[in-house]
Amino acid sequence: MEKPKKFYLTTPIYYANSRPHAGSAYTTIVCDAIARYKRMRGYEVAYLTGTDEHGVNIERAAEKLGISPAELVDRNQKIFRDLWKLLGIQQTHFIRTTSTEHARAVQTLVRRTLRRTPHAIYKAKYEGRYCIYDNLYVSDSPEPANCQICGRPAELISEENYFFRLSAYQDKLLALYRERPDFVEPDFRLNEVKSFVEAGLKDVSISRKSIKWGIPWPDDPEHVFYVWYDALTSYMSGIGFGQGADGDAGPEFKKFWPADLHMIGKEIIRFHAVYWPAFLMAAELPLPDKIFAHGWLLFEQEKMSKSKGNIAHPEPIVKAFDEIAGANVGNDALRYYLLREVVFGQDGNFSREALITRYNADLANGLGNLASRVLAMIESYFESRVPEPTSDSSITKFVSSSLESIAREHYDRYRFSAAVRDVWRLIAQVDAYLVQEQPWKIAGDPVHRPRLREVLYSAAEALRIIAALAHPVLPDATQQIWRCLGQPGRLADLQLDSLAWGGLKAGTRITKPDAVFPRVEVEELSERIEAMENDIRNPAAAAGGPGAGAPTAAPAGTGSAATTAAAPGAGNAKITIDDFAKVELRVGVVKSAERIPNADKLLKVFVDIGDEVRQVLAGIAMAYAPEDLVGRKVVVVTNLAPRKMRGQESNGMLLAASAGADGKPVLCTFAEEIAPGSKVK
Ligand code: MSP
Repeated sequence: MEKPKKFYLTTPIYYANSRPHAGSAYTTIVCDAIARYKRMRGYEVAYLTGTDEHGVNIERAAEKLGISPAELVDRNQKIFRDLWKLLGIQQTHFIRTTSTEHARAVQTLVRRTLRRTPHAIYKAKYEGRYCIYDNLYVSDSPEPANCQICGRPAELISEENYFFRLSAYQDKLLALYRERPDFVEPDFRLNEVKSFVEAGLKDVSISRKSIKWGIPWPDDPEHVFYVWYDALTSYMSGIGFGQGADGDAGPEFKKFWPADLHMIGKEIIRFHAVYWPAFLMAAELPLPDKIFAHGWLLFEQEKMSKSKGNIAHPEPIVKAFDEIAGANVGNDALRYYLLREVVFGQDGNFSREALITRYNADLANGLGNLASRVLAMIESYFESRVPEPTSDSSITKFVSSSLESIAREHYDRYRFSAAVRDVWRLIAQVDAYLVQEQPWKIAGDPVHRPRLREVLYSAAEALRIIAALAHPVLPDATQQIWRCLGQPGRLADLQLDSLAWGGLKAGTRITKPDAVFPRVEVEELSERIEAMENDIRNPAAAAGGPGAGAPTAAPAGTGSAATTAAAPGAGNAKITIDDFAKVELRVGVVKSAERIPNADKLLKVFVDIGDEVRQVLAGIAMAYAPEDLVGRKVVVVTNLAPRKMRGQESNGMLLAASAGADGKPVLCTFAEEIAPGSKVK
């Protein structure tokens, strides 16, 4: 009998001292696509993620906030869980390093190591420089040094530690890389790792005495484990290592270990490809099958990172897409962009404009449009029943042959951008086929009925196959298309091996979808994302301070303000007079105004509010010419937190009504003479 296929993959466990951004979510989204793909290839998948909750940086972050480390990590791990839920991530296991089962696993691992390879661990004095932000031993000398990862000055550490004898593993590691050249991918990363090991390995300290927030060393509780020893063990504790009757392993561990894939970002390769296999060799445990190090998501050519402030968060992207498109498309849009735009393994740049442009071009105009057209024609010409084809069409072969290559050559090798590119080639091919055959032209002529059947059957069957192939990347939209094609159950349960041309049965009842990916306006969506992003950066304002919340944070008269003003929940709640008094309104007189390049809706308005002239960006360009505004009296919200749009700062907001069905802005003004700066209340 064939052995059941299993696949165990992991993301790194995330530091729980800050909230995740799009760069951190990248690893998780990639793994989710792999997990979904593997399930569609018949594997039982275990997919682990979690939070890395120990270490001095957590201790210090909590201190700054005046709370305990336990409270901090409790709060933050929930942000991760909530985000993974919002992003539709289907992890099967979530491990927290502060859990008791994890602590037991770490202690079990070290005990086992001491039993099996007693000389692998010893006690000695450590003096060196340590980066608290990256948890990295930067240098083994007390001389000042900067961290190789973040560039910040490393701290001096001088204490007695337990050491792991990494130096004894140099030859074994080199043999591993030689015998299993795909242990690390991409291959250029393996070369980096090899060179590092060839240059000689120093023993590493795996305990700390100076901090308390960690897992105690067994029988020597003055020491806690070095966070990387602790964190790496999560890959095993998360599936039950240290839980079984023999102390070493539970049934899930026995089933899934060794991991098939540790997916990581490139900056943590050394921990995974050097330390981790050495720790496992010393404990006489099987090594993972593969470490894959992907590149970074860059923001303006730099690694996205909280300390640099160049961050895009996933929540505003997903929520703003859903809101502006009026459909559940945000997740698919983000996943598609990340997996298509970034050549997997390399660094890739993140740009909000490129994200929205790709959505409109590839999802709305591409897949969404194809699905709507094909299904609408079957509804009109065949009373919503899939027609019976007479023969194979010219796209049959193309689709059938792509099927195999997309799965085996691309998905199997984690080449997402190539997989997605080829699925979109199929879409282009079907589009071209329809343009060539023009079913809408021959539909009225009974002579052409057989050809019409063939064309629409082929287009619908191609659409079914495209939906299945795109499912790991676009789980929401493809499920909708699947259902509209009259296919039963969850597309996720389909086995790709059984996917072949001809699976769509003639006579199947289809339904026409609502727009699968409604088109969005780049500027409107971009502004909405920016407003939500500002709420994350400035939570106090979002929670009720001046200019609080998404609805009022957008400038008056922009499409987004009009949309959010009518958003559910924003309309009916009553506020007190004190709430209203928090908003400072003043009379302003416009001194000058100008257009903003590439922003159709925005004007930059300079407005005199009595004691100063403010720069305010207002979404009124569709309704007012800049020159017509000069001298106009307006109402300005003057205590709104400044915010940036299109790289320009806006310092306030102009009040405007939203007129008619298209929400055209009409500025509030005064009929009487009134001095700039006068209070409005
Ligand atoms: N806690 C360690 C991992 C321990 S695993 C035993 C850690 N955490 S992290 O939160 O800093 O990073 C988690 C993942 O997010 C890593 O794979 C990291 O590479 C990834 N990313 C964080 N910022 C990133 C980008 N800007 N771009 C792509 N991935 C990045 O490291």
